[in-house]
Amino acid sequence: MNRLEFDDQVVRQLDEVYRKRDMRRRRRLVHDALAPASGERILDVGCGPGFYVAELLGRVGPQGSVVGVDGSAASLAVAARRCEGRANVEFHEADATSLPLGDAEFDAALSVQVLEYVPDVPAALREVHRVLRPGGRVVVWDVDWATVSMRTEDEARMQRALAAWDSHLTHVSLPRTLAGQLREAGFEDVRMEGHAFATNELSSETYGGFLIGFIEPFVVSQALLDAEDAKAWADEQRALGRRGDFYFACIQFCFAAVKPR
Ligand SMILES: C[S@@+](CC[C@H](N)C(=O)[O-])C[C@H]1O[C@@H](n2cnc3c(N)ncnc32)[C@H](O)[C@@H]1O
Repeated sequence: MNRLEFDDQVVRQLDEVYRKRDMRRRRRLVHDALAPASGERILDVGCGPGFYVAELLGRVGPQGSVVGVDGSAASLAVAARRCEGRANVEFHEADATSLPLGDAEFDAALSVQVLEYVPDVPAALREVHRVLRPGGRVVVWDVDWATVSMRTEDEARMQRALAAWDSHLTHVSLPRTLAGQLREAGFEDVRMEGHAFATNELSSETYGGFLIGFIEPFVVSQALLDAEDAKAWADEQRALGRRGDFYFACIQFCFAAVKPR
């Protein structure tokens, strides 16, 4: 399987797109679901470039603390820079399935668009459960990539492009089974909300807009689609965008659950 490497170049791109409108909206939805409170200790599993960690530091205040864990050194370097000068933050390079953290240390945990990349999701959920205190909250966010819908005059080419993109994911439709997997890991009060990310705007401010510019070079560099096919696919989307006819929709899912007291 071709995997997306969270190396310097990809992290630079994420650092850029995570500032944009749809990603700011996504962070607001995650913060609402997590409801962080002053003084809490919060864990971000797969913290990436550290946007949530930096924002959560503001929410938990000087009496609280935030820990970011990620498997990518490149992500952690950017996250650490983002939180420079803050005392109540730590970062650890580790796999989501083996957290270098003690039992029952945290009031709440989040993991946003990470578990779809993790082969052993039950192990990652068990680890989150272990490090939460009884009554602790978790929020998990992932995309069901099978819900992606785009306008095209060449459905076969669209299917080739989306299949090439999907092949980098470990779990293309993780949200379909996440509620059950959270209960299996020992969580209760599992709730799911779906959020549509839909747009007619091909711009880097929108999730669909920036994906076009991300997917084309990625599928070519990984030899998942030939360059001509990928360019023709992206050119069609850019032409639709210029006419105001771009259409992209997908559903992203926010799960919230609690560790029993
Ligand atoms: C799409 S980014 C999301 C970053 C962050 N959660 C956010 O939404 O801003 C996915 C992150 O998950 C991390 N990741 C993927 N698999 C992981 C694993 N098995 N253990 C730890 N981190 C992992 C990647 O290194 C990357 O930083």
